[in-house]
Amino acid sequence: MSTSESPHDTTGAAGETFEESLLKKALGGNIPAHIGIVMDGNGRWAVSRGLKRSEGHRAGVESLKRCLPALLRLGVKFCTFYVFSTENWKRPREEVQFLMDLILEYAKEDRSEFIRQGIRVIPIGRWKEMPRQVVQALSRLSLDTAGGDKLTVLLAVNYGGRQEIIDAAKHLALSYEGRKKELLAAGEEEFRQFLYEPTAPDVDLVIRTSGEMRLSNFLLWRAAYAELVFTDVLWPDFGPADLYKSIIEYQGRERRFGDVRRE
Ligand code: IPE
Ligand code: IPE
Ligand code: MG
Repeated sequence: MSTSESPHDTTGAAGETFEESLLKKALGGNIPAHIGIVMDGNGRWAVSRGLKRSEGHRAGVESLKRCLPALLRLGVKFCTFYVFSTENWKRPREEVQFLMDLILEYAKEDRSEFIRQGIRVIPIGRWKEMPRQVVQALSRLSLDTAGGDKLTVLLAVNYGGRQEIIDAAKHLALSYEGRKKELLAAGEEEFRQFLYEPTAPDVDLVIRTSGEMRLSNFLLWRAAYAELVFTDVLWPDFGPADLYKSIIEYQGRERRFGDVRRE
């Protein structure tokens, strides 16, 4: 189902906007504990308007900002945003540079806003391999927002799902050094302690914009049983109404986790 038709300001009979009625509906159902969002389509959004791809990325930051109050209203506790993948280094040098600058700007500018809203921000991925200034800004952002208790925003920066699994496996093995028997007995619960943010629960819902239907190396371990919602909306056009619709779609799914339906 496409969620592209979102008449944001249509007022219904009860004086309620379309967006508010979607929020109310979503709040009547089960709210995912952890949502992952693949923010895709920035480039196509820009090109279709005769703009440079970088303008799409800039507009994409505004979409991310619009989603935060909506996540807070829903009471979602964890949301991971896919900001930059380990594969995105393949892009033209100027685009990669622009994205670095944008992350830097966002991490610096929005710090007080995150604190005000009670949002804890945690970078995940091999983000420490980013340029020094980006690493410093992300470290500071995460330190300064550590007290936020309403919502945890995980920023996947230089993130790859395979890399997360490799890194976790290495750290797990190192922590059992000299204890081979125990290492061989370790299972899922021991392994998950070594994922990038062990306090985060498994992902219930992955949303991907722009009509692409793939994971592109996003949260492979944590999203093992996630519901996937794809929308044709390009990320810079995505707003609270689209988020509420995605959650309503998720609420309509039957999650079985390998079991059978029991009446
Ligand atoms: C997503 O938008 C942003 C990043 C991957 C950083 P894209 O830049 O992938 O946009 P499209 O897919 O080319 O339209
Ligand atoms: C995934 O989008 C990465 C981010 C959104 C940061 P891409 O646009 O890089 O994915 P592919 O290349 O289409 O699979
Ligand atoms: Mg893309």
